Amino acid sequence: MYALGIETSCDETSVGVVFKNKVLANVTVSSLRYHKKYGGIVPEIAHRNHLRFIEKVTEIALKKAGIDFSKIKVIGVSFRPGLVGALLVGVSFAKGLSLALNIPFLGINHLHAHLFSPFLNKKDKLPLPFIGLVASGGHTEIFLVKDFDKIKLIGKTRDDACGEVFDKVARFFGLGFPGGVYLDRIYSYSFKDAFRFKCPRIGFDFSFSGIKTAIIYKKMELEKKRELDESTKIKLLSSFMEEIVTRVTETTILAAKRFKVKNIVCGGGVIANRRLRSLLREKTKKEKLQLFLPEKRFTCDNGAMVAGLTFYLYNNKKLKSNLNLKVYSD
Ligand code: KG4
Ligand code: ZN
Repeated sequence: MYALGIETSCDETSVGVVFKNKVLANVTVSSLRYHKKYGGIVPEIAHRNHLRFIEKVTEIALKKAGIDFSKIKVIGVSFRPGLVGALLVGVSFAKGLSLALNIPFLGINHLHAHLFSPFLNKKDKLPLPFIGLVASGGHTEIFLVKDFDKIKLIGKTRDDACGEVFDKVARFFGLGFPGGVYLDRIYSYSFKDAFRFKCPRIGFDFSFSGIKTAIIYKKMELEKKRELDESTKIKLLSSFMEEIVTRVTETTILAAKRFKVKNIVCGGGVIANRRLRSLLREKTKKEKLQLFLPEKRFTCDNGAMVAGLTFYLYNNKKLKSNLNLKVYSD
């Protein structure tokens, strides 16, 4: 049996096909280039492009997997959190396919799917229980995961998500969108402590709006004094990124220790960040914790992670949704 996964929560129209954890296809078309000039995602543009691409992307995914619809036994679709209009395109499409093919479908929480991404193409048993960290453009959340149908939120950002803060600050510095990618590129390890920025420690929660304001004011102050050359910009941004990735890493490890859990699983676009990945590796090794990171190609939104989690929940937990399934922004 094969599972088809549909992801349309933001700007990516993505469809994946899996057999168990094995990814047979993962096809993504992003409307990102249409949003770039606005410096952020414009919901209406995202919705329209999902409508434009969804059928073709599905067709190509099946072709790549070398199967036709008759081999699909279950369809999974992200139904929360995300842009409601964008989610609605994927969910309506999944419902239509489910009716037409007479097969079940399952609404998948997009954040839980990110936590499944490290297990794609892996044969190992799921390392349950684990502490899950999702760091993306819309979320910075920590979960206690006893199983994929027993997930408890234990910490979250009280204001901006870390990807959001990267994007906003990068925009203020005139870098491209999405900013996280540019910050990752220009980060310099030797400048990581050049400036002193701090994020508050608030249990398992996060707050990134203070550090965002701090770097913006520092930039303006240096500009006024005519001290903002290219190398100072890199020093500012490296110190800023270092503090955020340190806070994210330390809070996740704190959660693992507090809940006496030996495994840490990460997912979401920000997990592509090279410094965050190396810091997570370094600190978990020191604490004798097992770390599970997704391959970089599965960090951003993708249909394969939705298909993988769908296969697991349908096959092992017999879960399925009905036609009343709604979409939710949170
Ligand atoms: O998971 P994702 O594709 O979409 C959401 O569900 O939000 O994450 C997108 C976010 C953006 O904020 C982007 O700046 C960030 O992930 N991102 C990165 C990197 N690649 C993408 N942040 C830091 N370093 C990266 N290499
Ligand atoms: Zn995401």
